[in-house]
Amino acid sequence: MAQIIDGKAIAAKVRQEVSQAVTSLRERGIQVGLHVVLVGDDPASHVYVRNKERASAEVGIRGITHRLPADTTESDLLTLLASLNRDPEVDGVLVQLPVPPHIDTNRVTDAQDPARDVDGFHPVNLGMLVSDRPGLRACTPAGCMRLIDETGTDLKGKRAVVVGRSLIVGKPMAHLLLQRHATVTICHSRTQDLPTRIAEADVLIAAIGRANLVRGEWIKPGAVVIDVGMNRNDAGKLTGDVDYEGAFDRASFITPVPGGVGPMTIAYLMRNTVLAACARRGLPDPF
Ligand code: GUN
Repeated sequence: MAQIIDGKAIAAKVRQEVSQAVTSLRERGIQVGLHVVLVGDDPASHVYVRNKERASAEVGIRGITHRLPADTTESDLLTLLASLNRDPEVDGVLVQLPVPPHIDTNRVTDAQDPARDVDGFHPVNLGMLVSDRPGLRACTPAGCMRLIDETGTDLKGKRAVVVGRSLIVGKPMAHLLLQRHATVTICHSRTQDLPTRIAEADVLIAAIGRANLVRGEWIKPGAVVIDVGMNRNDAGKLTGDVDYEGAFDRASFITPVPGGVGPMTIAYLMRNTVLAACARRGLPDPF
């Protein structure tokens, strides 16, 4: 029987830490500002952006959303990003993905100021991560690391298996684990014998995007299981990438879906915004 990792409670703790840092910055005359850019009408994106607005307000960050029509040109979007990059009151900038197909996602990412790239997607920030240097880290992997840390797990020398190799989760996740001296395996859609790889994991990160792909009987007894999946099943219910019931009987710790990784992403976005605000002004890390 696993212990449940309560992502909602841990995210609330992170938001509390952020809120304190925002307050002490305000006492020094600094108002932290996060700008979110949303292009088009994707309903899920609109929900995510509203959640970011709500979280910003809750921790005292000035959240500003730029809602742009679906036919916004790439050039107009790049012009907006350039003006945000020059604005001293802008601490963090996030372009909600996906952008409409006529806009090149890489050009948008590259146009961002790495110092304000609170998503941690800019090649400079990814390069800083790989070279073990300070920089903004992608929110979901950073939030997953916090969940692992909250279990008291010492990652040194442990086998960590990341399933999924996206730029948003899998790749940065693997490097964060490597930085903490785990022995890291990255699995993906072409991996042979996935059950055997997963059975080796002391720590398993599932970030595939396929409901219940990881079966409970594959889990090593005592493993820490972090499920990044957010899939809707046929009944419209939110489910992770891991068969929760099966894994629950074998894991030592497991994240539920919902209420595990999900709440951590936005909490770490808020935290990244404060980190960016401090770093850009030469102030020390408040956390
Ligand atoms: N769309 C889905 N997830 C993300 C994310 O983490 N950042 C951004 N900018 N867009 C997303």
